[in-house]
Amino acid sequence: NSDSIYAYDEWDIVEEDFKVENNARSETVFALGNGYMGMRGNFEEGYSGPLGTGNEGTYINGFYESEAISYGEIAYGYPEKGQTMLNVANGKIIKLFIEDEEFDMLSGEVLDYKRTLSLKDGILKRSLIWRSPSGKEVKIEIKRLISFQNKHLAAINYEVTSLNFHGRIKLISALDGNVSNVISENDPRVGSSFNGSVLSLKDSKIEKSFAALLQTTKQTKFSLACAMENEIDTENSYQLKNSKKGSRVEIHYLVDGEKDKKITLTKYISYITSRDYAKENLVKRAKDILDKSRADGFNSIYKAQKAFLLKYWKNADVVIKGDPALQQGIRFNIFHLLQSVGRDGKTNIAAKGLTGEGYEGHYFWDTEIYMLPFFLLHHPEISRKLLEYRYNTLDKARKRARQMSHNKGALYPWRTIDGEECSAYYPAGTAQYHINADIAFAIKRYMEATGDIEFLTLYGGEILFETARLWSDLGEFIEGKGNKFCINSVTGPDEYTAIVNNNCYTNLMAKENLEYAYEAALWMKKNKNEAYIDLVEKLDLKEKELLLWKKAADNMYIPYNQGLGLYPQDDSFFDKAIWDFENTPSEKYPLLIHYHPLVIYRYQVCKQADLVLALFLLSDKFTIDEKKKNYDYYEGITTHDSSLSSCIFSIVASDIGYKQKAYEYFMNTARMDLDDYHGNTKDGIHAANMAGALMCVVNGFAGLRINEEGISFKPYIPEKWQEYSFKIFYRGRVIELRVDKKKVIYELLEGKEVEINHFGQKLLLKEKNKISLEIGA
Ligand code: BGC
Repeated sequence: NSDSIYAYDEWDIVEEDFKVENNARSETVFALGNGYMGMRGNFEEGYSGPLGTGNEGTYINGFYESEAISYGEIAYGYPEKGQTMLNVANGKIIKLFIEDEEFDMLSGEVLDYKRTLSLKDGILKRSLIWRSPSGKEVKIEIKRLISFQNKHLAAINYEVTSLNFHGRIKLISALDGNVSNVISENDPRVGSSFNGSVLSLKDSKIEKSFAALLQTTKQTKFSLACAMENEIDTENSYQLKNSKKGSRVEIHYLVDGEKDKKITLTKYISYITSRDYAKENLVKRAKDILDKSRADGFNSIYKAQKAFLLKYWKNADVVIKGDPALQQGIRFNIFHLLQSVGRDGKTNIAAKGLTGEGYEGHYFWDTEIYMLPFFLLHHPEISRKLLEYRYNTLDKARKRARQMSHNKGALYPWRTIDGEECSAYYPAGTAQYHINADIAFAIKRYMEATGDIEFLTLYGGEILFETARLWSDLGEFIEGKGNKFCINSVTGPDEYTAIVNNNCYTNLMAKENLEYAYEAALWMKKNKNEAYIDLVEKLDLKEKELLLWKKAADNMYIPYNQGLGLYPQDDSFFDKAIWDFENTPSEKYPLLIHYHPLVIYRYQVCKQADLVLALFLLSDKFTIDEKKKNYDYYEGITTHDSSLSSCIFSIVASDIGYKQKAYEYFMNTARMDLDDYHGNTKDGIHAANMAGALMCVVNGFAGLRINEEGISFKPYIPEKWQEYSFKIFYRGRVIELRVDKKKVIYELLEGKEVEINHFGQKLLLKEKNKISLEIGA
């Protein structure tokens, strides 16, 4: 096809032609991960292309180094230390020599090349015939996987067959700990400020086919073991040698190769850190994992991988009939979300997953508002883990609240790895207090969809109370605003407007936070009294605080311009001139890398959905007319310079019947990374957009909403499709929705009968039953 560099296939991402100019972005596209570790799609043999056209990268979720942030001018309460997810020892390396000629994609000739990422099986394959500069030919077939079942394990199966010669074939399997992070140039979205290697070698080991490196970080004092076990399978005679040099260990297999005789090297790789286990035994633990893996063999690990993914896809798949390119894009997103998500309650989802160094591996509100809702509908157990992460970092959020002069409550960081605020630019960082409300909102949605009382009692309640406390401390009842509860000097989601009074989104969401905390407290008091009393004691929570939450929620100031029928994004938004879009040439976008922030802040111009996001999240609080009016207005001034924007515009467009727009915005999201729409896929995937693309289908086209009132749908089918379907969890049930040109079918696959709402009509969906309804055009 002409539009994509990858062939259209519904389950595979296939590259049939390797080009240097596509290398860096393909490294992201072909990245593998299991939520714990991630490896970019780098070639085993390395890459010899021009500087800047590739990044070697292996990452471990939550494994970071911290460094003092250097400010030109410092002020009180600025975060002192940054955190950067480290590029760790490269375990992917397998070099191949034919006599003295080294295999390299850019030397000799590459024939019959094909690289395939199988989304169904979770495996990356590369096959090719290499003709060396002197004319010797080998067939190379490589399979790589990162195990979803054993988070510490990756494996590579490397086969090489001589096609036209007898002679020495050398395979070198290595671990290289001499690695460094990408240095950010002038773009805040690219990388870190670390220059050179920050991991120091503590120990290295080689013993026959096993080798290991033990490295540590200086500031965070983490230890990391990276180890490998190798197994060669050949009918030919061979010698095994090894070498150790600094932070690099190598095992060499020198095989007396024969024409048509296949040689297979299987490499098992393990990463394990002191964040998981005591640092004393890391290498031993890694070795145990590798010994077991070698005994199991590559095929059995692969089988387990397939079994894991079969289960994942069963509930996560979103099927679209009639457009293979879209289907591929959608499945690619679903797959990468799983590869990115930390499932241990100690880690979360970085904005770029584990595929690149953009945003330094930090977690943002992206999780609660974009990615978590996806998992909540398809794999709620994962969404609970994400919320547990917030619980596990609650103490740090309390500490941050004190630094920010709040005597009570918790303030979650805008960006972080281990829970401490890392944003060095407070106007678009710390000032985004809405993160607190976003987390509370996710808890509310989680509870509405799962009814998981244990979670609320153990974790959720405490987060809700501490975030509510923060709002009640931050806001004031302002006389000049009719004694309404106002929240001043904050930044909403739109980063092209900063430090404003009464950001409408923030106030609406804070109101939800306060209300829900109040309700949760009453509920717990009544139904889980013992736990409630313990919590009240622990937090020294007073009855009058609860009343204050309620009062603040009931009296929240929501900016609204009666004359225009519009919600201003904040108090002063409509006092500003509109950005001169007409005279801004396309090369000046994204604005953030071409204009000083102050210049941008002076105008009505939005980087991303802000008020429009509230129209979606708090859908039932606005009339369709209000939604239309506000959508029309904000659409005209939004640049979508953030990849978090288009999906929200698509969903709201669906809601208000702007079907064409809904589709166009959706099309900006579905293949964003596959087709590199933002030109920066090389820095890593856009995880929030990936989840956003799925929301366009589920919440947009199918119109799904879940709230305290229940579950409702407003499905329609985009003109170009024949059919679409997906399954969702809802309070212990699995409901499947299938929509084609004529009808919609709701089927209750698991669980007890349930009432659903279809375009305002209440329907009872009975056990193991279907309801089929005609839909209008
Ligand atoms: C967006 C933020 C987002 C961050 C990380 C920024 O460009 O404006 O809303 O949290 O990227 O994805």
